Amino acid sequence: MGKINPGVRVRVPASTANLGPGFDSLGLALDLYTWVEMSRSEGKTTFQLYGEELEGKGIPLDKSNLIYQVAQQVFARAGVEVPELSVSMYSDIPLARGLGSSASAIVAALTAANALIGSPLSDDELFQLASSIEKHPDNVGASLFGGLVVAYWDGIRAEHIKVAPDERLEVLVAVPDFQLSTEKARHALPKEVAMSDAVFNVGHSNLLVAALCTGRLEMIRLAMTDKLHQPYRSALVPGMAEILEGAADHGALGIALSGAGPTMLALSDRDGGRKEELERFLREMFGRHGIGVETRWLKPDTEGPRVEVLTETAGSGTFMQNLKGEIRT
Ligand code: HSE
Repeated sequence: MGKINPGVRVRVPASTANLGPGFDSLGLALDLYTWVEMSRSEGKTTFQLYGEELEGKGIPLDKSNLIYQVAQQVFARAGVEVPELSVSMYSDIPLARGLGSSASAIVAALTAANALIGSPLSDDELFQLASSIEKHPDNVGASLFGGLVVAYWDGIRAEHIKVAPDERLEVLVAVPDFQLSTEKARHALPKEVAMSDAVFNVGHSNLLVAALCTGRLEMIRLAMTDKLHQPYRSALVPGMAEILEGAADHGALGIALSGAGPTMLALSDRDGGRKEELERFLREMFGRHGIGVETRWLKPDTEGPRVEVLTETAGSGTFMQNLKGEIRT
């Protein structure tokens, strides 16, 4: 077994899942990030949470913390004992809004813990762990590999192919001012669906992947439609039905609920020239239902996690001082 490093810092991207028809299969990494710094503690395990997305949100600061639990799975798999950790975390990814905040935390914990002990686990092993923790591979796949990830998880193994997103693609997210848990949004789904709806989604999802792989951006509008989850979830997101109906007529290449929601996600052509119109449309549709919304223009992240091993002397600045210039707020 290799030596344990003094400390590591990782930056992991947010993600959007499904892209409409690719339920539990498609994920796209976005340039909005979570940072985790991890080192072995000489004393007790400590957690420092920073930023408005994490502070005061009731996140546990003991060993029941997700980051700690996931890190211990890595150590156990590698046969290494690191029972006490010092963890600092900052995130620009809003919690429980459909932008993969929990997946980014899981991937940050996996990559940080693995790097801390000299990276004995492969990316594939981390992907298997991440998929079995999250129970679907779309968000964790995108956060772990970057880019557009086409994947499945069959309950035993996850497989994926990473596709480089078309360089013309930009992403507008409209993040409503309320949270929706993935659990609640999955609970709204039926146990069984009609064969005709399944066939609809297979065709649309396949066409969407082909359109994204071949640069046929004009095909996204039709391909990015879904009958497996969005119709059941629209009751949970006031304004969603109108947005799905009208966004393509206001400049979107395609529109979908981002993951389990409530964020709405529009794909846009950077050369299309209708960005303001699209943003206004999304704001107005949520506004009609009295819902405040924050809109953000994002780009696909193609890099995936960035991992830095910290040397003993690198600890000159505080965690937040070292992130300065990179974080949004
Ligand atoms: N594919 C998952 C869902 C993503 O739609 O429930 C949840 O983040």
